[in-house]
Amino acid sequence: MIINGPNLNLLGKRETNIYGSLTFMEFLDTVVKKYPDVELEHFQSNIEGELIDKLQDVGFSYDGIVLNAAAYTHTSVGIGDAVKAITTPVVEVHISNTFSREEFRHQSYISPNAKGVILGFGLQSYELAIESFI
Ligand code: DQA
Repeated sequence: MIINGPNLNLLGKRETNIYGSLTFMEFLDTVVKKYPDVELEHFQSNIEGELIDKLQDVGFSYDGIVLNAAAYTHTSVGIGDAVKAITTPVVEVHISNTFSREEFRHQSYISPNAKGVILGFGLQSYELAIESFI
């Protein structure tokens, strides 16, 4: 399960110098074709509680979760607690290298309970996370 947080529905038209010009659906299409044997699902929400609900829904039965909590990464104790509460391993991903950006992006409430963290490789960060589960 790939879970995307706030504003990631705007990929392709949002700060393209940082996030690139592909929409997430365009990217996902290529990934689905590349890994035909992997059952991939995608969920995006701009709402913190919906992200927590989805983590709880899938977090005791799915093989893996690729989570880009976007801005909530840096603010949400609730999402951090959800990642801690569930048993499905979570790989945290970011498109950009958050450590080369503003100081407030250096903090993550997800990382302490993630299986691993992949960031800074553009949309390829997601692919690397999927590869890690394979
Ligand atoms: C992001 C980095 C976050 O700091 C930012 O708020 C995002 C996207 C990334 O994928 O690079 O929305 O998670």
